[in-house]
Parts: sequence; C-alpha cells; structure tokens
Amino acid sequence: MKEIRNICCIGAGYVGGPTMAVIAQKCPHITVNVVDINAQRIADWNDTDLSKLPIFEPGLAEVVAEARNRNLFYSTDIEKSIQEADAIFISVNTPTKTYGVGKGMAADLKFVELCARQIARVAKEDKIVVEKSTLPVRTAQAIRTILDATGNGAQFQVLSNPEFLAEGTAIADLYAPDRVLIGGGEDAAGQEAIQALAAVYRNWVPKENIFTTRVWSSELSKLTANAFLAQRVSSINAISALCEKTGADVDEVAKAIGMDSRIGAKFLKSSVGFGGSCFQKDILNLVYLCRHFNLPEAADYWEQVVKMNDYQKHRFAKNIIDSLFNTVSGKKIAFLGWAFKKDTNDTRESAAIYVADELLQDRAEIHVYDPKVPAEKIYADLEYLQTQKTGCHPEGSEATRDLLNRVTVHQNPYDAMKDAHAIAILTEWDEFKTYDWQKVYEEMLKPAFVFDGRNIVDKAQLEALGFEVYNIGKGK
Ligand code: NAD
Ligand code: UGA
Repeated sequence: MKEIRNICCIGAGYVGGPTMAVIAQKCPHITVNVVDINAQRIADWNDTDLSKLPIFEPGLAEVVAEARNRNLFYSTDIEKSIQEADAIFISVNTPTKTYGVGKGMAADLKFVELCARQIARVAKEDKIVVEKSTLPVRTAQAIRTILDATGNGAQFQVLSNPEFLAEGTAIADLYAPDRVLIGGGEDAAGQEAIQALAAVYRNWVPKENIFTTRVWSSELSKLTANAFLAQRVSSINAISALCEKTGADVDEVAKAIGMDSRIGAKFLKSSVGFGGSCFQKDILNLVYLCRHFNLPEAADYWEQVVKMNDYQKHRFAKNIIDSLFNTVSGKKIAFLGWAFKKDTNDTRESAAIYVADELLQDRAEIHVYDPKVPAEKIYADLEYLQTQKTGCHPEGSEATRDLLNRVTVHQNPYDAMKDAHAIAILTEWDEFKTYDWQKVYEEMLKPAFVFDGRNIVDKAQLEALGFEVYNIGKGK
C-alpha cells in the first residue's frame, strides 16, 4: 500500500472539520480535501471571516487559518476529491433511526451507505476507506461488500479509525490523543493499510499511543468507550438523587471515590444530565446490537444508563415546578445556557431542550441566553422535539406554535434574568460565574430562585445575597 499523500474526508461536521484541520496542520506534505453535500456548510468553512466557521471550538480558527488553502481545502466536489485521494475518511452523521426497523434504537447508516456507493462508483484506483463515523460493529463488512461489488479492478481496504475527541476540547484532544485506534484486516494487505494510516498520525502522535486491532474490536471499542463514559455520569447522577434526600454532597462523594485510583477522578461531575449527539445514540445502538444478538440482559443493563439520564432531566424540571409552588404557568424562567456543554455551539440532545419542553408544557415563559447558540437553533431544537413527540399531526403544529411563542432568546444575560421568577443554569459556561449577582437579585421577582444544574455558582454567596438556591446532589 502506497504512502498516503492525499486525503478526502466526506462530512465537514463536528468531527470531519476539526480532525482534518489538525491532520492538515500537522502534515503539510498531505493534501486534505474536506467535502460535504451541504453547500452552506462548505461556504462557511471557506469564509474569510473566521468567526463565521460553522463550528465553534477553542483554537480551531487558528488551525484553519494556518492550513486552509495551503494543504487544507473545503469543497462540494465530492467525486473529484474521491478520485484524487489515497485514503477516504467517511465522517458523516450516523443518527438514531427515526423510522422502520430499529426505529428509536439502531444507527441510521443510510448516509454511510451512500458514501460507500459513491466511492464504489467513482474510484478507479486502489483506496483505503476509513470509517471515522461511529458505527455498529461489523459495518466494515457492509462497506466492503458494496465496494467489492464494483468489479472495476480497484482494491479497497476498509479500516476503522473511530474518533474520541470531545467537543469544546477537540483541538487539544486531537493534538494529544490518549490513543489513536486503527482496526483493519488481519491479512498482509490489511496490515499494510493500517501502517499507511498509522504513518499519518505518527507525524505528531507518539507511536505508543497508536493502537492497532482487528476491525471488529475497533468498531466495538468506540461504542463501548461512550457507553462507559455515559455510565459514569448516570451513576453519579443516581447518587445525586440520594444525596438530596440524605444531606450528603455529591461533589464530596465524587471526590472521595475519585481519589481511589481504580475509579479515577474524571467524568464524575453530577449534572442536569448528559447531552450531545453521541452518548444516547451510541448506547441505544449498543442496546439494539445486544437485542439483535439475543442478549436481553446485556441490553437492559446499558439501556438503564439512558433511562437514568432521562430521569435526571425530568427530576430537574420537576424540582423547578414543585419549588415554584407547583406551577410555572405564566412565570418567567431564565435559562442560562442552551449548548449541551460549555465551549461549543452544539445543542444536539442538550438537556436544556428537554427541561424547557417540560416547563413549557406547564405553560412557563422561557427566556434563554447562551453565549454561542443562535436563536434560530433554539427554536429549531424545540420544534424538532415537538415533531418527534407529535408526528406531523396538524393539532401538534398549532400547539407547537403556541409553545414557541412562549420562548424568547436574548443577547444580553441581564435582560433574560430581569423580572424572572427563577433562573435555571443548564450549561457550565465560565462567564455565568462572573455575573453581578447582586444586580441580578435586585432585578428579579422575590423569592428569587436559582436552580443550578451544573453546580457552578457559589451557593453560599448567592444565599447571602438572598437567593433561594437549589443544586444538583446537595441536600438542604
Ligand atoms: P455532523 O452532523 O456535524 O456532520 C456530518 C456531515 O456529513 C454533515 O455536514 C452532512 O451534511 C455530511 N454528509 C452526510 N451525508 C453526506 C454525504 N453522502 N456526502 C457528503 N456529506 C455528507 O456530524 P458529526 O458530529 O461530525 O459526527 C459524525 C460522526 O462522527 C458520527 O458518526 C458521530 O457519532 C461521530 N463522532 C462525533 C463526535 C462529536 O463530538 N460530534 C465525536 C466522535 C465521533
Ligand atoms: C463524548 C466523549 O467524551 C468523546 O470521547 C467522544 O468522542 C464523543 O462523545 C462522541 O463520540 O461524540 P462529547 O459528547 O463531545 O464527547 O462531550 P463530553 O465531555 O463527553 O460530555 C458529554 C455530556 O456529558 C455533556 O452534556 C456533559 O456536560 C456531560 N458530562 C460530562 C457530565 O454531566 N458530567 C461529567 O462528569 C462529564
């Protein structure tokens, strides 16, 4: 297998965009073409105003500025890029299926299949095809079957190279990954392809951190890593509920158990619930796979992680309603944060959407401020959830209009909080800690409630100002 000098990445999203920018930056001798069917997204990646990049990630704009139009190109010319490439990364979205067999559980692989078919149609020379998207175990077989059916003599090697970056820290994660995982065929051609891809990463990743496996292990490791991470959050959130009943403090419990080196301190931050495009989707995919292979006990075990997360979001919303004297009808609730975590503009599966929906069903007036999420995304998130819940029924759409009319998005946090009955903190943006809480208190209705879904504000300080503060996992 020849050295990789030209890469095509299909999918210019949260993974394809930053991952390829870093590969291009670290490997100036490799030409990297990132392609997408979404012309607007590509135009945004090419915008000379770097604040218009489609993804907000600390440090990303600087990397793009360095490599773009040197050896990093964003384009909609998918076929040309495939033809020129030695290696083609498939980095398209793999959402949960919303229809038919496996609805609500299985990964929808239609975008991946379209890529495989397009590669099969266009590629006339040997290529390495790299699964960058998160995929169910044994998808490489399906891709291979499609590619091998071309019969034009081109040889394809299918590798699994899942991405472990987290949003908000994507650039740091890509610069110094805990590991780069590459799975491939066990025959000589498969091993050569693995080494060709490993050589790309060796430009900046120490060789000890590049772990090569058989392809099925690599595919399954990605789902397993996300399931384990999400399971830690659900585990500590389950304990947070018990803390609230017993007077224990979940942050102290997390610290105490995290000091045990076998448990480790990371990923034990209790919250309003995990969000993001991947944890829920990947666990549901794992559950689906377990059921498919007739392992119902294993399926139920993992499904509980998602159920616990739903419970945590519901518990937070219910606590707001209960505390505000059993109704939020007509009451102004200020939402600080809409993104699923800080330092990203991504809102997919954000806990804020579900908490807002529950309060809106109780007829609340929601006023949102998020430093990076635009208003249209907030309305689109709520609308999408209503469509999911009600289908396309016309009554549903009227109810949706009424619901959206009770949501206001602000550019200024103090406007969102002025005259509010309560503040709910949904994202842990650092700036929330620095607000003039005295001013906020003076401008709010009394009693002034703060529901801190991220345990980021200083409870004692706010209580001294007169606020009623509710945290996650802190008994009164
Ligand atoms: P995304 O929705 O941000 O980006 C996917 C892009 O693929 C979109 O721009 C879409 O237009 C494009 N696309 C879809 N079909 C296409 C086609 N046939 N041809 C060309 N372009 C096409 O998704 P993402 O967050 O980047 O996730 C991509 C994959 O990576 C998923 O499988 C996800 O599970 C996985 N992943 C995501 C993260 C993350 O932090 N977001 C981290 C690790 C792994
Ligand atoms: C997660 C994984 O961390 C990545 O390794 C993986 O590549 C990625 O999913 C993916 O496959 O998409 P991401 O979802 O971007 O990354 O962000 P995380 O930092 O994992 O946070 C996920 C959610 O869990 C957020 O809502 C966050 O607020 C929440 N969380 C995280 C907690 O509530 N407590 C914690 O201790 C950690």
